[in-house]
Amino acid sequence: MKTALVVGATGATGSALVNALISSDEYRAIHLLSRRTTHWRNRQEIREHILPLSRIGDLTMPYAIDEVYCCLGTTMKTAGSKAAFRAVDYGAVVALGQWAKANGAGQMHVISSKGANAGSRNFYLRTKGEMEQALSALDLPALYLYRPSLLSGERIDYRRKERMGEALMNGLTWLPGSDNWRPVPIDVLAQAMLQRARAHENKGRYRIESAQILRGLKRDSE
Ligand SMILES: NC(=O)c1ccc[n+]([C@@H]2O[C@H](COP(=O)([O-])OP(=O)(O)OC[C@H]3O[C@@H](n4cnc5c(N)ncnc54)[C@H](OP(=O)(O)O)[C@@H]3O)[C@@H](O)[C@H]2O)c1
Repeated sequence: MKTALVVGATGATGSALVNALISSDEYRAIHLLSRRTTHWRNRQEIREHILPLSRIGDLTMPYAIDEVYCCLGTTMKTAGSKAAFRAVDYGAVVALGQWAKANGAGQMHVISSKGANAGSRNFYLRTKGEMEQALSALDLPALYLYRPSLLSGERIDYRRKERMGEALMNGLTWLPGSDNWRPVPIDVLAQAMLQRARAHENKGRYRIESAQILRGLKRDSE
């Protein structure tokens, strides 16, 4: 039986991931680090830690965590400024990586984005790319960077632009190579993370592109 820590469990992908972890019956403890409590709080395998992201470093565990999952992220609209966006999508994610390294976590799984690139002129893609670089430099035992296209699935907040993009992309799936950009269902992404966590022989750094997430467990690029 394994242990996991999920940061961002209250979000769309994080929720799907926690449900998948619970259903798998492979975890004796699933720790959730959030800024608010969740509906899973009374389950026997769930351990909630309510902390602001600025205090990730204060998190203490009675044992080394096998798998750390980062489903954190914000939008420019919610964050309100580039600095506030970067504090979450770069600052908090890298702080979690540093925590994972310092506390002996076996694996770290992080949702980045298709097109993430530290040299991009696009602020969102550049932030994600810089986050990937900073995590890679930590030399964690196993680092998985998931790079999905647009995410599709149920979410509480309605995001008009994302839904318009999803409708457009779904109408063009007949085009060759559409796996590279067509929307990724949130449940499929959660299962892709779980599948790779089970592949214990995987040590090192893996980038899992959108098409690979959609195709299931295939050879990942390092
Ligand atoms: N949406 C897309 O189409 C898309 C495409 C490619 C990649 N991605 C990336 O995929 C990841 C997951 O996306 P998602 O759509 O599943 O995310 P989401 O539903 O927006 O959830 C984000 C999570 O991060 C937490 N969070 C955000 N700001 C926080 C803050 N200041 N303090 C504490 N917690 C904070 C949220 O907590 P609360 O519930 O408390 O707010 C929530 O748990 C993100 O990194 C995103 O950039 C998304």
